[in-house]
Amino acid sequence: IPVDPFDLVIFGGTGDLARRKIIPALYRRFIAGQMPPEARIIGAARGDLDDAAYRDQMRGALAEFLSGDLNADDVSAFLDRLHFVSIDATGDAGWSDLRDLMRDDVIRAFYFSVAPSLFGALAQKLHDQDIAGPQSRIVVEKPFGRNLKTAKALNETLARHFDETQIYRIDHYLGKETVQNLMAVRFGNVLFEPLWNAQYVDHIQITVAETVGVSGRGAFYDQAGAMRDMVQNHMMQLLCLIAMEPPSRFEPDAVRDEKLKVIRALDPVPSDDIVRGQYAGTDDIPSYRQDVENPDSQTESFVAMKVGISNWRWAGTPFYLRTGKRLRARASEIAVVFKDAPHSIFGEEAGRHRNILTIRLQPNEGMMLGVTIKEPGPGGMRLVDVPLDMTFADALGPEGEHVPDAYERLVMDVIRGNQTLFMRGDEVEAAWAWTDPLVDAWEARDERPALYEPGSSGPEEAQILMHRANRRWREIKE
Ligand code: BG6
Repeated sequence: IPVDPFDLVIFGGTGDLARRKIIPALYRRFIAGQMPPEARIIGAARGDLDDAAYRDQMRGALAEFLSGDLNADDVSAFLDRLHFVSIDATGDAGWSDLRDLMRDDVIRAFYFSVAPSLFGALAQKLHDQDIAGPQSRIVVEKPFGRNLKTAKALNETLARHFDETQIYRIDHYLGKETVQNLMAVRFGNVLFEPLWNAQYVDHIQITVAETVGVSGRGAFYDQAGAMRDMVQNHMMQLLCLIAMEPPSRFEPDAVRDEKLKVIRALDPVPSDDIVRGQYAGTDDIPSYRQDVENPDSQTESFVAMKVGISNWRWAGTPFYLRTGKRLRARASEIAVVFKDAPHSIFGEEAGRHRNILTIRLQPNEGMMLGVTIKEPGPGGMRLVDVPLDMTFADALGPEGEHVPDAYERLVMDVIRGNQTLFMRGDEVEAAWAWTDPLVDAWEARDERPALYEPGSSGPEEAQILMHRANRRWREIKE
């Protein structure tokens, strides 16, 4: 279904995010027939480009970041929607050009694909120059602050000129197909929800493992670390979607209210329950400290922790979170590990088995339920685990094969005016309020995180965190 006509202005329109994600996502939606003929995309940035030069740059971006053969006619038809305005975010240049370009009868959306330090200036300019009105929307990217104080300040800055219903804070994990599937699985089936609580679930593991290091963005990353870069936002969102109560409807505030309750119920994490790691180097692979060009860096590129949620549903069932760079494989998954059956009628020699529901976020998106059955053969009753395996690409056929990029969904939701998959200001603040004391505590200790080999599963200490409770991490593999 096409969306309503729109003018989408991308501040930072020549930047990395625009080239890598936003423009390719818009192209895909264009090909899917979702973009009405009147829709326009306006790149705004410093630099002296005209429309033709901007279109050329973006043609290059499509070729670089979209796999497969691109149809030249489609690309040209798409690029015809693109315009460029040379603008100075903090000065006066370009603003009247932008105002002249905007149309009155279409949706106006402004994507702040720039450093957060410019958010305030942009919001102010849009207001002063009379470019944004009550129907306009703004889109902002992470990092949304680096602690509670800075996040609050950002929220206040934006709130000066925009209502919360106009602000779309992106966490691209919420746009991922399988992350939305988490809600479908939980709330579209009767099968899981009755078991989805501390009575039946022993623990839950959330792993987001990456093979890449941080070279190329070391200056940013070294100031952030895994906790701020991944846990406070992406992993927190995953945790919320798994742990939240069923919202009454799939509507923005109903969903976000439930997520917020989870964040507010998170226990503080004692330092014994957190493991920080930093990748070492080898002869061929630079170490973290080399990648960020900071020989004394104490920043973590890996973190694992045990988190409790103090509410009726989850008290006593820990959530184990783990994320890191330069690990064995790129593999993100959630594993719900159920408790043992209360009594084994087959005797201990048959073996004890546990049901595990695994939800693969990427790659090979799908779900797998480990079920215990009888081992075939005449030798008596012995038990064995078999997977009920549902890889979405197999189960859904061609429909399941093209997993749309998160940005395709999110950018179109901005135009549709649907905030369900965006973070509300209070949610972001609550997440920082939980994160801050953990980060403050280790920054005060000023210790180097535990070293781990590139291509491993992280530091040994992370294994011990699990072993202490007689549990085991699932293997990191594609
Ligand atoms: C970003 C982080 O938000 O998410 C990166 O800043 C990380 O460090 C990335 O690599 C992971 O996203 P994805 O979609 O590749 O899992």
